Amino acid sequence: MTETTKIDFVALAALPSQLPDQPLPDEVSGKTGRERTLVIFMGKDFAFGAATLRLIGDQGEALIKKAASAVKFKGKTLSALDLVAPAGLATERLFVIGTGGDGRGDEHEAGKTGGTVSPKPEELEDFAKLGGFAMGKLGHAARAIVAFDPPQPPKDPARAAADFALGMRLRDYSFDNYKTKKKDSDAKGRTEITIAVEKPAAVRLHVKAAEAVTAGVLTARSLVNEPPNVLYPEEFANRAMALKKHGVEVTVLDDAAMRELGMGALLGVGQGSARASRAVIMRWRGGKAPKEGVKESAKSKSKPVAFVGKGVCFDTGGISIKPAAGMEDMKGDMAGAACVVGLMQALAERKANVDAVGVIGLVENMPGPQAQRPGDIVKSMSGQTIEVINTDAEGRLVLADLLWYVQDKFKPKFIVDLATLTGAILVALGQEHAGLFTNNDELGERLIAAGKVTGEKLWRLPLGTAYDKMIDSKFADMKNTGGRHAGSITAAQFLQRFVNGTPWAHLDIAGTGMGSPMSEINQSWGSGFGVRLLNQLVADYYEG
Ligand code: BES
Ligand code: MN
Ligand code: ZN
Repeated sequence: MTETTKIDFVALAALPSQLPDQPLPDEVSGKTGRERTLVIFMGKDFAFGAATLRLIGDQGEALIKKAASAVKFKGKTLSALDLVAPAGLATERLFVIGTGGDGRGDEHEAGKTGGTVSPKPEELEDFAKLGGFAMGKLGHAARAIVAFDPPQPPKDPARAAADFALGMRLRDYSFDNYKTKKKDSDAKGRTEITIAVEKPAAVRLHVKAAEAVTAGVLTARSLVNEPPNVLYPEEFANRAMALKKHGVEVTVLDDAAMRELGMGALLGVGQGSARASRAVIMRWRGGKAPKEGVKESAKSKSKPVAFVGKGVCFDTGGISIKPAAGMEDMKGDMAGAACVVGLMQALAERKANVDAVGVIGLVENMPGPQAQRPGDIVKSMSGQTIEVINTDAEGRLVLADLLWYVQDKFKPKFIVDLATLTGAILVALGQEHAGLFTNNDELGERLIAAGKVTGEKLWRLPLGTAYDKMIDSKFADMKNTGGRHAGSITAAQFLQRFVNGTPWAHLDIAGTGMGSPMSEINQSWGSGFGVRLLNQLVADYYEG
């Protein structure tokens, strides 16, 4: 992984008043002989913030106007003007980042997404995106000073600056643990960014939370990116144990413990592998302690929120083996579990005021003499029996036992599960939206709203009894596939049979958790999808 990106905040007032006359002071710019870049913002019609104008002076403004007209730079959002060694300015390089007509960009998707509402300018996505864009322009190991002074001030400037920094960090992540030779283009050293803002103290309040969330996203990405010979179930469980240092309670269930609980569906998937299966239960008890005088009985009634992740560390398909082409991507079949770990880290590191449970099921789906066969009937923890028609429909078998376990043991307010569950969700939604299935409209709406804030888009698909019938079995209570039609929906129907009426939502992230298109804030194969989304859900609806 990249060395950590260092981002500091200073006061805009600490920058010199006229860059042409005064070079940036040492305590702001540092002096290591490495490239030093100044980043400023410009809106349409050469709109600059007051502090920016002070910084660049008349000379700088004239220079930018001249250069901008030469390359037709108009300050459109997510466009930039790059000036190397600008004459008369005491900086080696000047990046002018466009912020669009109204300070929020002019590429909003209002109307384009079937009536969904486009994010408001103060919402996280825009400034995070802008930060990611700026980082992309600067490149790895950059040293830069950003004058965070958008020409149209955001509603909450401190929040916007924190989001900008978060976007920079997310963009700067790359997974190169296994490259022994660095390309020439991989600049060495760490990225050092100084962001000059109106009120550094106010920004720092937001930054603490934003950094916790970033750390969680990067954890999830790295878990997804790790190769499957390194990250097998036991090793994954060990990585989850590291959350203990953030105050998360972590319990690991081994095969014997799961057998004791009756988790025959999960264990059937793992039985073909030389690697043992694991389940990990993580608990962050950040909920405010009940006021004094509240009875113990009331205390124990407080219900946690719960998250469940599919952690198939490698999915060969088992005896119903997958074709060779692209099978290496099935190392990412644990993206749901990776998200749950990243989320628990984010909640713990920012000391979220919530009681949250995260449960992940870790298995490897392999063919072999011990592997389960098509036609096998397994007994789930719920007592329901399942005829295994296709051993490649393994994720739902893992989740069946986890969902039952979680509702039974924790009686949560709700359960959200995440799983790279079906190829069919890619057919339906591509890589733009994750599929959302829920038995609870309110939970569904809250998830969609949170996704709009973070840019992790969800699209709701239906559930219904006609679909449910498609997984009835001749020999058992149900079968694990419903045939060719409505593959993502019948998978969700299967899961619903194990939630026992608990408010529940299922996110099918097969298209978004891995191999998703590069974006301003992600250049890595593992996207960390869901961490920011579920953190936002908790922050907006379930804290305090
Ligand atoms: N892990 C796969 C789903 C998947 C496909 C994830 C592509 C990411 C990218 C899942 O276990 C699977 O194999 N599903 C089958 C179900 C089928 C056998 C009913 C599928 O989608 O083909
Ligand atoms: Mn499979
Ligand atoms: Zn799978």
